[in-house]
Amino acid sequence: MNTSVQNAKASRLKSLPKAEVHLHLEGSFGASLIAQWARLEGVSLPRPQEDLFKFSGLADFLGFLDLACGLACTTDRLVELSYGLSQRLADNGTGYADVIFNPTHWHAWHGRLGAMLEAIDAGFTQAEQDGLPSVGLCVSLLRTQSADAAIELVDMLTTMRHPRVVALSVDGNEAAAGRTGPRFADAFRRATNAGLRRTVHAGESSGPEGVWDAVELLGADRIDHGVRAIEDPALVRMLADRQIPLGICPTSNLVLRVYPSMQEHPIERLRAAGVPVSVNTDDPALLDASLVGEYALCQRTFGWNDDVTRSVAHTSIEASFANEDTKAKLLGALATW
Ligand code: ADE
Ligand code: ZN
Repeated sequence: MNTSVQNAKASRLKSLPKAEVHLHLEGSFGASLIAQWARLEGVSLPRPQEDLFKFSGLADFLGFLDLACGLACTTDRLVELSYGLSQRLADNGTGYADVIFNPTHWHAWHGRLGAMLEAIDAGFTQAEQDGLPSVGLCVSLLRTQSADAAIELVDMLTTMRHPRVVALSVDGNEAAAGRTGPRFADAFRRATNAGLRRTVHAGESSGPEGVWDAVELLGADRIDHGVRAIEDPALVRMLADRQIPLGICPTSNLVLRVYPSMQEHPIERLRAAGVPVSVNTDDPALLDASLVGEYALCQRTFGWNDDVTRSVAHTSIEASFANEDTKAKLLGALATW
């Protein structure tokens, strides 16, 4: 495809009214920012800057998050990061995003969740005042945390009731943690009772059993990834029957080696089976993914036409935790795309 056709397709996809429901604040650092902050903090990086984002898999990747997030040790840096994430959303024509934020990765802020939320909120508020898209925060547990730590986090969130926080999430490495649905069930129940929504990483580093647990034990409104549900036909039927949406991140699944190629990626099979799917970037800067690029990748690989593209964008908006007003505006704009 020549460059002008590619550019025309990209600008059409940028104009597609859509939400993003699976991306992490932890994944929004550029390499040059990390290198600059590492120099200022006297921290040495594990690899040269040009190889910084070469990961051998999820475990390596999650370890890197601790290093990168550890550098964001001041309010100004958090404001810069959250504002920059909003800018990235606008660059892709994203109307709203649910952003996952996992306090465990940010060492400098341990024990200061309130201050940390205020700093992140300040960046997003400034961005919204400058006309950039609105954002809800999904505060995340790490799969390897204890049941007590999970309850402690939820109790803090329900005491603070910060208006930016829309959901409880859990992310991290299920392969390293084993089956943890039962461990987090109480924390998720408390979050539900406090009016928080629920989004759960599963079916990436776990197989279908992780997705079953997310639905049955954690009451997930939405599954982050969920792609390995494809290995269990009964699970695919359940997700379709109950219309539980999956926030799928194709490039992430390739880079972190969940699938060897797009041809083997199950997003199209899940969609065709009636499971609501959206496309997302996961950790856009670290994995070199853009939302427009993810839609283009699926169009190229699976021949998605405008109708399919529109229906996936529709799912992204419906599956989001945006307020009804924001959803109605985006859906109205989508109808005339
Ligand atoms: N945290 C950031 N990105 C993640 C991913 N892809 N899986 C699990 N935890 C994550
Ligand atoms: Zn993720």
